[in-house]
Amino acid sequence: MCGIIGYLGDREATPILMESLKRLEYRGYDSAGVAVLELPKAGHANRTSITKSEAKVDTLIEKLEANMPSGKLGIGHTRWATHGKPTYINAHPHTDCHGKIFVVHNGIIENFAELKAELEAAGHEFPSETDTEVVPHLIEANYKGDFLAAVRAALKRIKGAYALAMFSSDDPELLVGARLNAPLVVGLGDGEYYIASDITAIIPYTKRVLVLGEGEVAAVTPLGAEVSTLDGVTVKSKVVHVDWDVAQAQKGGFPHFMLKEIHESPDAVANAMRGRLTDDGAVTFREFDVPDDRLRSITDVLLLGMGTSLHAAMIGEHVIEDWVGIPARAEDASEFRYRRPTVGDHTLNVVITQSGETADTLVALHQAKERGSLSVAVTNVIASSAARDADGAIYLHSGPEIGVASTKTLLAHMISLYLLAVRLATVDGRVSLERRRELVEALRALPDQVRGILARDKEIVELAHKYSGYRNFMFAGRGLDYPVALEGALKLKEISYIHAEGTSGGLLKHGPIALLDEQFPVVAICTASSTKDKMVSNVHEIVARSAPVLALVTEGDHSLDGVPTDIFKMPAVEEAASAVLNTVMLQLFAYHVAVKLGQNVDQPRNLAKTVTVE
Ligand code: AGP
Repeated sequence: MCGIIGYLGDREATPILMESLKRLEYRGYDSAGVAVLELPKAGHANRTSITKSEAKVDTLIEKLEANMPSGKLGIGHTRWATHGKPTYINAHPHTDCHGKIFVVHNGIIENFAELKAELEAAGHEFPSETDTEVVPHLIEANYKGDFLAAVRAALKRIKGAYALAMFSSDDPELLVGARLNAPLVVGLGDGEYYIASDITAIIPYTKRVLVLGEGEVAAVTPLGAEVSTLDGVTVKSKVVHVDWDVAQAQKGGFPHFMLKEIHESPDAVANAMRGRLTDDGAVTFREFDVPDDRLRSITDVLLLGMGTSLHAAMIGEHVIEDWVGIPARAEDASEFRYRRPTVGDHTLNVVITQSGETADTLVALHQAKERGSLSVAVTNVIASSAARDADGAIYLHSGPEIGVASTKTLLAHMISLYLLAVRLATVDGRVSLERRRELVEALRALPDQVRGILARDKEIVELAHKYSGYRNFMFAGRGLDYPVALEGALKLKEISYIHAEGTSGGLLKHGPIALLDEQFPVVAICTASSTKDKMVSNVHEIVARSAPVLALVTEGDHSLDGVPTDIFKMPAVEEAASAVLNTVMLQLFAYHVAVKLGQNVDQPRNLAKTVTVE
């Protein structure tokens, strides 16, 4: 999730780009850069000045203050690295072979490798490791004197997600924006225009914005902004008036980052799959490109993580055993590091960490590596310690997660582990083509299904308010929903400070049931699965102890009809998809309980986003 800004108007562009990037820094802060078309000196051709920093926006600002380019057209970028490390060369803007076309990008270009190979064969040179760099070169390859036409032709070739701001030094009065699967707005000022990844960037300058639709292109000139499709058909966009302040805009209008991030889950789910999955369920991981033979030699999988990431590990353990048919075990990394574990060179060690910097997880990774295992870090942060120290990385591409409580990145972890399981099962010949296609269909339907749960926020608020008076909670589930239950309990306790425990349905009778009474509610995950009937029996046992029950039940399932429970109906989907949807529901439930209790959900007491000490 990068931040992008473009400006065309009567004022000096550079200070506007600098201020906007500062406000966009919450979207990514690996590196930053601007390109400004400088005012031509008489008799000279137009010249574009590029300033980049491989560090945060402040370093870029220092550079610009020391050497301020003067011009009325410019673009800027603050980067959350997806392809290529956070280096000077990889920082945006990127340009074509002749340094005429300048592009900043947010998103992921899925087919960049294929396009890059084609362009390289035609003589284009690519200094950076980014996916973005194909865009200016593709525009250059399509340029026949009309920049806008070249942009449209280039974008027709691109698959994936993009929000782009672009200009050509041959067209000093044209700023172009385009989007697909990533947001982009055009700000309408007084004789000046902005293109931005979100309105946070432009809020002090204008409250009037055009929100671009999917596959639309905005051509901004001193005469105004014209929006059209990639085929050049004019689109009538509605002008929206926004009255947020900067803090509200950074949270996308949501009261907390946590809620904003839960609402980013459909994108997090889609981005974790982007460019990695074919219709036939063939999975490729660019930064974990291990030959089939090596993967075939894997005899067991060790999954390490802490907190929410440990729950993701448990979900991974379940699907790897189920789909691949080899032993898998999820381990608390802080315990693993003090044991003498049996790990060998046929073990695949999967390290699960959003930040890539969790101390316990890193030590466990090093120990597993020393014993010869093949390791892969599943992480959200490019070039984090885990990504660097492991043999390969699977990046989540979720964008920064600011709320201390992990939400969207857990979903991305789940999807990544599902894909890894499919990859392992495929090389082992353990999964049929038909089954793979079924899984692909289920996974691809997920972003919309997650949206469906988010749209039912009101129902969840009602339930959360009803239950917010209790001081103890139990969360129960079986199979894949056992770690989902553990996570439901963790989410609730960490942001609301209510005591909450997670248990498997089976374990309930072996102790935890002693706690239950009318003041100790249970959230029971009873959605369709091979152990659903067992969970239904557990609910009967719970109700018999007078404990209030909130049950998640699959649409059309009447097993709990007549049993005194609150029911939240979930869609009928594949079990792995159901675990994702149940997780989203429980995240929202925890959030609304905590808000009702007036807690600081984004920064809960005693917690840090990244635990870099033991
Ligand atoms: C979850 O909400 C917490 N933030 C915490 O449990 C977290 O998952 C854990 O500290 C691991 O962090 P990591 O994924 O960055 O390694």
